[in-house]
Formats: sequence, C-alpha cells, structure tokens
Amino acid sequence: MAILQQFGPTRSHPFMPTASAPGELSAAARKYGVKPMPSLEWNAQVERETAHLYDRVQAVIPPVEWPFFAPYVKAINTLKKERGAVILAHNYQTPEIYNCVADFVGDSLQLAVEVTKTKAPIIVQAGVHFMAETSKILNPDKTVLIPDVRAGCSLASSIIGEDVRLLRDKFPGVPIVAYVNTSADVKAEVDICCTSANAVQVVESLGADTVIFLPDQYLANYVASQTKVRIISWKGACEVHERFTADELEKYRADDPSVQIIAHPECPPDVLEAADYTGSTKGMIDWVRKNKPKRVVMVTECSMADNVKAELPDVEFVKPCNLCPHMKRITLPKILDSLVYMKEEVVIDPMIAEKARRSVERMIHLKM
Ligand code: 13P
Ligand code: SF4
Repeated sequence: MAILQQFGPTRSHPFMPTASAPGELSAAARKYGVKPMPSLEWNAQVERETAHLYDRVQAVIPPVEWPFFAPYVKAINTLKKERGAVILAHNYQTPEIYNCVADFVGDSLQLAVEVTKTKAPIIVQAGVHFMAETSKILNPDKTVLIPDVRAGCSLASSIIGEDVRLLRDKFPGVPIVAYVNTSADVKAEVDICCTSANAVQVVESLGADTVIFLPDQYLANYVASQTKVRIISWKGACEVHERFTADELEKYRADDPSVQIIAHPECPPDVLEAADYTGSTKGMIDWVRKNKPKRVVMVTECSMADNVKAELPDVEFVKPCNLCPHMKRITLPKILDSLVYMKEEVVIDPMIAEKARRSVERMIHLKM
C-alpha cells in the first residue's frame, strides 16, 4: 500500500531543551552534591585496571589512543558506582563509551524496556535528547542526566505537539503513531509510540484501515510497503540516513558482488530496495551476528560498525562514514562531567510526561 497523503513541517522548530542556566546548580546537583574531579593521569595502575576493557575494543581503538580514553573510563566507572548510577548507551555511541562504560546498550526499544527494570536512582543517557526524555517519562522519580543537552535529532525537531493536534482535527478518529524519535510534547498527543524495530506491528495492532504515522517519511514509506494499512505521513527525515543513495550502494556491489548490504529503515526507498536486509539497529546487529558475512556495508550511523567490529573482528566492514552530529556530542569527558556535577538534568512538565507515558507504555506492553 502506498502513502495516502503527506503533510510536512511548515516551519523549523528550534531545538530548545530545558537545562539549568549556565553556572547554576541543577536540582540534581543540590540533591546529590558535586564530587571532586577525579585524577585523569595515565599511569601503570590505570593501564592495569583497564586492561580487560581495552581487550574489548582493541580491534577498533589503536593502542596509541588508549592512554587518552583509559583515565576517563576508570574515573567514570568508579564514580558511577559511588553515585549508584547506570549508563545507557545507544548503538551509535563510540566504541569506548559503548564497550567500556555502558551498563546497557541497544536500540531505542531495548533501552526503553531496560530502563524500566533498573533500580538505580540516577540514569546517564549516552544518546540523544529524545532518548533521555523517554527514560525520564518511564522513570519520573529518577534523576535522568544527558551529558550534552544540545544532542538533538532532525526527526524530533521536525514536529511539535501543536502539529499533532492540527492533524487530529483534520482526520478525526484516525489513530496516530509516533516514532520514539519525537519530543515528550509530541508523544503526549499521539495514541501510541513505535520504534524502527516494531513499527509495522504497532501500526497493525491498531486494527484501523488508515493510520497517521509521524514524523519520519522514510520509515512511513517502509511501513506502508509492509502492510495493507493506509498511511498518512509527515515530511520529517533523519539527516544521517537521508544522505545515503542507491548509486553509492551499487558502486559497492560493482566493486565486490559478494558484499552484503544491510540498511536502517530511515533510509530513502531506493536505498532500501538496493539492500539485502532492512532492520532497526538491533535487527542489523543480530543479522551480522547470525550471518557472519565476509564483507558487509551497514547503511546507518558509522560508529555502529565499529561496535560490531569490536565483537566480530573477522567480519570486514565497508564503511560509508555518515556520523550523527548529535550522537557525537556525547563523549567520555562529558559523561564524567555529568557524574561529577550531576548535569544536565532532563526535566519534563509532569502533565506532559503523564500523557507521553501512556503512549510509550502502550507500545511496551503490546503483545507481539
Ligand atoms: P533504532 O531505534 O533502530 O535504534 O534507531 C534510532 C535512531 O535514532 C536511528 O537513527
Ligand atoms: Fe536522529 Fe538520525 Fe541522529 Fe538517529 S541518526 S538521532 S534519527 S539525526
């Protein structure tokens, strides 16, 4: 089934997350206190204590770079325990974060589910702002920190709650599904959320012949290609995935006809058509684990290939290196600052959080 209609952003929505004013202590810093900055010296003891972690990343981090990362890794892991905090890292985080300091790693769905199981009072989100908001929505009584509050997302900033209300007025009775890559304000206005791992099942679970699916036009196209449900979409796009072209993939195939190409559904339709497999970030990782291809192109954010390479050094990754500038704002020094100064705290209006929680929990509790 093709897309029935498409609406689009009529203006850009500057990304303006809530944060403490510069120099002002966050409520979390007042509650938990500020810790002294640990030593960041590279010495034989740090080398010894982090050697087991270097083993995990040696396929992707050269030995000459480890003395820069290791003191941060040690300091973060020590402070994390002292604070009783957990670090959640999305699959797009760099290898030293993903492999050496994270307690939970995964795609948006895995992180959303894991976060509901943690008892830790403090969550540090190594990912982008909508992910940290999802953690706060599901854990209203916990402190959620994001190491750089400017880590946005082109999809999340393509739509606001008011746009959803206008769509609802225009299509009364038509259910609305929001990709988790949206602000809490948007999640509060929709019927249910989805991730790229469960989008088709979520749309079909509603039992409607037409569904509004927002904000990613390409994920909406992908869903429409997999279901009989008629889709009304929004013209948002991921600035990382929309840059891939079918032409570049054909060049990889021309160079090596045996190469395997796997793509994220945020890519344009001709890119997905040129791919051997389409799936969420977790779906793509599982595909490589299961098929162990000799050479593979992961058509998604570049760091993910490094993280899989760290685990499967025998697989050769051909890397069109599109980095997400928002994900890359999160670094070890900023994670350490988060834990020392308890910043930046994610704050959501409780009325909005309550409504948004219904949409996220409806997705999590769906029997699929
Ligand atoms: P996943 O839900 O597949 O992890 O994707 C999130 C994302 O931001 C992709 O760009
Ligand atoms: Fe958003 Fe795209 Fe970055 Fe994912 S990769 S966080 S969708 S801009």
